[in-house]
Amino acid sequence: MNHETLDSGFIPNEICEKLPTGFEDIEKLASELPKVLANEQIVQRVNQLELHKDISQLTSSELERAMLLYSYIAHAYMWGKKEVENIIPSQLSLTWFAISEKLDRPPILSYASYALNNWKMLDETKPFDLENIVIMQNFLGGVDEDWFIMIHVAIEYEAKKILSNLKSYFLEEKLDQSYLLNSLESIQKINSIMNRMPEKCDPFIYYNRVRPYIFGWKNNPATPDGVIYEGVEQYAGEPQLFRGETGAQSSIVPALDALLGVTHSNDPLREYLDEMRLYMPKEHRDLLNGLDEWSEKDRRKLDIDEESVELINDLIKEVHIFRNKHLEYARIYIYEQSLTNNSNSNIVGTGGTPFMKYLDKHLQETVPSDD
Ligand code: HEM
Repeated sequence: MNHETLDSGFIPNEICEKLPTGFEDIEKLASELPKVLANEQIVQRVNQLELHKDISQLTSSELERAMLLYSYIAHAYMWGKKEVENIIPSQLSLTWFAISEKLDRPPILSYASYALNNWKMLDETKPFDLENIVIMQNFLGGVDEDWFIMIHVAIEYEAKKILSNLKSYFLEEKLDQSYLLNSLESIQKINSIMNRMPEKCDPFIYYNRVRPYIFGWKNNPATPDGVIYEGVEQYAGEPQLFRGETGAQSSIVPALDALLGVTHSNDPLREYLDEMRLYMPKEHRDLLNGLDEWSEKDRRKLDIDEESVELINDLIKEVHIFRNKHLEYARIYIYEQSLTNNSNSNIVGTGGTPFMKYLDKHLQETVPSDD
């Protein structure tokens, strides 16, 4: 298992802010997306895009940006029209599919594009801080949409510290309590960032203006048979079913579960979380699979002293606190909104799961293991 990745967390080292020559039409449409959506011009604008793009020279960070822009434009096309149609035109589908093949994840908006690769510093000379980051790409824009993503980015950034400390403690078997104490400080910081979601992201705006664009096409009543990617030979005209963007595609919590020895018995959310790995960047997916293997086979071989066991249990308590706050958000931002609103009332997550029951189950399972 290549666990060096844990030192930099899951935030990329390099984020591309603009694609090279040849992609001007894509950059322009993406930058105008909020206005295009407000004016209901997405169909006309997509029709004007160049059909074929050469992606062979793009670097990996440029490929990520291309994935981000095509994903945003395609979701705007799918969910920004009056009537939903189950076809993505070839101006989008051909290049989107080609990029997705190179990145080894499906052509759909995923967390890596929505959050991990979608920010820059406001002031480069100042340190990273929630108030010093800017979200680069929006659907409609506005502070609620920005803040929703900013909270995710700030959590990912802080998670570098906990992941690298837990790596030293568990995987490198340094077994020094200082690593656990640093981890505790870091996860407490993550929880304090999580608590700030309601400051600038209002549940009504989230439910009605932010969330509608990030849905996928699997288990979505609007696209019961899936979506056709026009002209993509490999799909042979068959509609495709892919899940939507969700924080469940973040690798932090599954990494913490594996490192801390938290396990979940089989249920639809666990199956769904395993499926979510297909939507993560390949290195993250491979890392999580390696961590799970380590957790099952090697974790219990470590000789951990009593005091450290206590500290590890304190860390698990903090993950429990995180999941508890998260469940509260699922209730306030989605469940309660769905009760007061008929237009968008399918009570499944953006990924397509009946989530309340299973998020609660995973919360109850966030306890120290018996062995
Ligand atoms: C308003 C804020 C949020 C809402 C309404 C929300 C909603 C949801 C929902 C409905 C699910 C269920 C599965 C699905 O449908 O995809 C989910 C899963 C998940 N979300 Fe969020 N989420 C929020 C913020 C966050 C943040 C900031 C993170 C941090 C990275 C996060 C990480 C996760 C994780 C890890 C899961 C998998 C469940 C688990 O392992 O316990 N979410 N979220």
